[in-house]
Amino acid sequence: MGWNSWNWFADHVTQEDVKRAADLLVSSGMRDAGYVYVNIDDTWQGKRDQNGVLHANEKFPDMKALADYVHSKGLKLGIYSSPGDQTCARYEGSLGHEQQDADLYASWGIDFLKYDLCSLRRKMLADAPGNKPKQNEIMHDAYEKMHQALLKTGRPMVYSLCQYGYDAVWQWGPEVGGNMWRTTEDISADFNSIALIGRQQAGLAKYAGPGHWNDPDMLEVGNGQLTADENRLHMGMWAMLAAPLLAGNNLTKLTPEVSAILTNREVIAIDQDPLGKPAERIFAEGPIEIWARPLADGGRAVAVINFGEDENFLRGITLHLKEAGVDGSMTARDVWAGKDLGTIDEHDRFSVKRHCILLLRFRKAG
Ligand code: GAL
Repeated sequence: MGWNSWNWFADHVTQEDVKRAADLLVSSGMRDAGYVYVNIDDTWQGKRDQNGVLHANEKFPDMKALADYVHSKGLKLGIYSSPGDQTCARYEGSLGHEQQDADLYASWGIDFLKYDLCSLRRKMLADAPGNKPKQNEIMHDAYEKMHQALLKTGRPMVYSLCQYGYDAVWQWGPEVGGNMWRTTEDISADFNSIALIGRQQAGLAKYAGPGHWNDPDMLEVGNGQLTADENRLHMGMWAMLAAPLLAGNNLTKLTPEVSAILTNREVIAIDQDPLGKPAERIFAEGPIEIWARPLADGGRAVAVINFGEDENFLRGITLHLKEAGVDGSMTARDVWAGKDLGTIDEHDRFSVKRHCILLLRFRKAG
């Protein structure tokens, strides 16, 4: 859990923005709710010197001092690069300098690396035209190369693979040391993007677990024109998916409503549940889906989500308790409402409004 600069600052991010984000993670209570990584995304890179050593650009005058500052706040610092010669924003990538870059990150005190395919894709296509297996091999090798370089530094760093799910990365991500891997193209701060990416996670639960997670991309909670219902749906669904929670909003404009959504302890507890089993989709009918996941205490989390547009949609839905693994003796709590509901009968019907999520936590009796 943490915060990343891209979704709000994009290519405008500066050292001052990152320091302020660190301050605000502490003062807002987000750090204490679990958001500890402060991740600088693309556009921090400057040029390599004659020895090939990369320097940060003028927006990041002292990376080591920045890491020290972030660490002094009880936080960790993340950084970004690409296995290609250029990043997606066309800054310097790590191709041919993997060990040098990994050593540089370690010397600064970096704790997290997001490694974004970007221009390596062009190289894959150029080096092995029309040969998909060979292209994929080039990609695997590139991710493995940085994995080995990171290991060689001796400094533990979370290794975040970003290649948009190509070649079913969930099947080979752990082999190249990935602690998390993006499963889709980029998220954006609009409901359709969130709904599309959320729904695309169906079938992927079995590939994730402690230490290696599916990453449906960073949170847009608090960005764009998302309503409170949409922010709750986004956060609630990402918690069901056991997704890495990397907030991407402007913390200098954090409203009490957005703060309450991001720091809801019961929602975070579902996301971070030690069993580490993401939800699977157990029911889908039109815009309505039900997702369920088992929890370490023997209970279940169940989410009923309405992705539809119909304002007047009020047809009651049963919870499909059997498929969700809920037995009749379990008691339910409406997590976003903070309300205990007691036991639920398999015939009980629930109505979930447009762009809303009903997030329930079931506990064993006694
Ligand atoms: C994209 C990536 C984004 C962001 C961006 C930076 O490829 O998916 O999350 O990192 O590059 O240029």
